[in-house]
Amino acid sequence: MKAIIIDRPGGPANLQLREKPDLQPAPGMLTIDVAYAGVGYFEVLLSRGDFISAFPMPLTPGLEVSGYVRAIGEGVKGFYIGQPVASMTLHDLNGFASMANVRPDLTVPLDQLGADLDLATAAASIVNLTTAYLTIKEVNRMRTGDSVLVHAAVGGLGSFLGQMAKRLGAGKVFGTVGSVEKVKLAESLGYDELFVRTDFVEQTLRATEQKGVHAVFDPVGGSMRKQSLEVLCPLGQLVVVGNASGEQDVINSYNQIWFSNKQFAGFTLGGYSDSNPVETGKAAREALGMLARKEIHVEIQGVYPLENAAEALALLEEKNTVGKLVLKI
Ligand SMILES: NC(=O)c1ccc[n+]([C@@H]2O[C@H](COP(=O)([O-])OP(=O)(O)OC[C@H]3O[C@@H](n4cnc5c(N)ncnc54)[C@H](OP(=O)(O)O)[C@@H]3O)[C@@H](O)[C@H]2O)c1
Repeated sequence: MKAIIIDRPGGPANLQLREKPDLQPAPGMLTIDVAYAGVGYFEVLLSRGDFISAFPMPLTPGLEVSGYVRAIGEGVKGFYIGQPVASMTLHDLNGFASMANVRPDLTVPLDQLGADLDLATAAASIVNLTTAYLTIKEVNRMRTGDSVLVHAAVGGLGSFLGQMAKRLGAGKVFGTVGSVEKVKLAESLGYDELFVRTDFVEQTLRATEQKGVHAVFDPVGGSMRKQSLEVLCPLGQLVVVGNASGEQDVINSYNQIWFSNKQFAGFTLGGYSDSNPVETGKAAREALGMLARKEIHVEIQGVYPLENAAEALALLEEKNTVGKLVLKI
């Protein structure tokens, strides 16, 4: 089988395509022939060595795949050989490869969604869409009519957070982006207003008549995270879902939280899927169902052959993407 390998930290330039022995079906797991793998900012951070203690090198990156069931491990029920599926390889990685061993709980049969969903769209969406669904529904427990602000609003995760908030009943949905060009590109995502991130505090307060928003969803971190506290209404919640900025963590005291009447929450799909695999799989099926029914839209900016994975990561690193990139295996 073919696989991308990263031997040492150093960023996207260190990705190499190599041959590896074919996978054998493992008990309790499914083996799939991978058709597409989703590419996200996480892989940029991974290639730099940011998560080296959790994911030592050499490694094969890739958190999300789609393809066809090739083999069914002992004890696995409910799947058949040749079935089209999408899956999250959150703990095992290894998605940038022609074969993957995946956990049945975190695998969605694409022929049971009630509407057609193609393999590229499924691979592009499963991790970010499931994250967006759980963040809004289970972490923030957003109420109908709440106003929300999404950072990196046209990015992979951000573009789903904005749409999912609307789909689940938000009132006004605002977003921040890095440039005026991105504002123009975001029309299909349904935001009420997008702000360039340099003056998002003033713009959010203006748009909410100085009241602030009920929730900020933040995949970016750094200075934007600190400033986000200024745009929350009383009892509003900041939900931390990433650190694409790579900036130092922002420290806040519990007493400041107490006195501020603001709420802080965090969510990471990897950890949650480990403790709650059944709930995570159920959320993935519901979220992909919305996508199949076209209630949510995904922007695939580029499809790259596996051997060009480094190019896709470099584009993400330059912040030059709207929506998602996928690898065709
Ligand atoms: N919690 C979870 O389970 C979960 C799941 C999926 C992803 N994530 C995390 O969410 C974050 C975003 O991932 P993604 O794949 O969706 O990436 P992405 O949004 O496609 O790309 C990152 C975006 O962040 C914005 N950004 C703002 N300041 C930045 C800076 N200093 N450096 C780089 N980017 C900056 C840029 O958009 P603008 O220029 O428009 O601001 C950039 O396009 C990552 O940290 C990822 O690990 C978390």
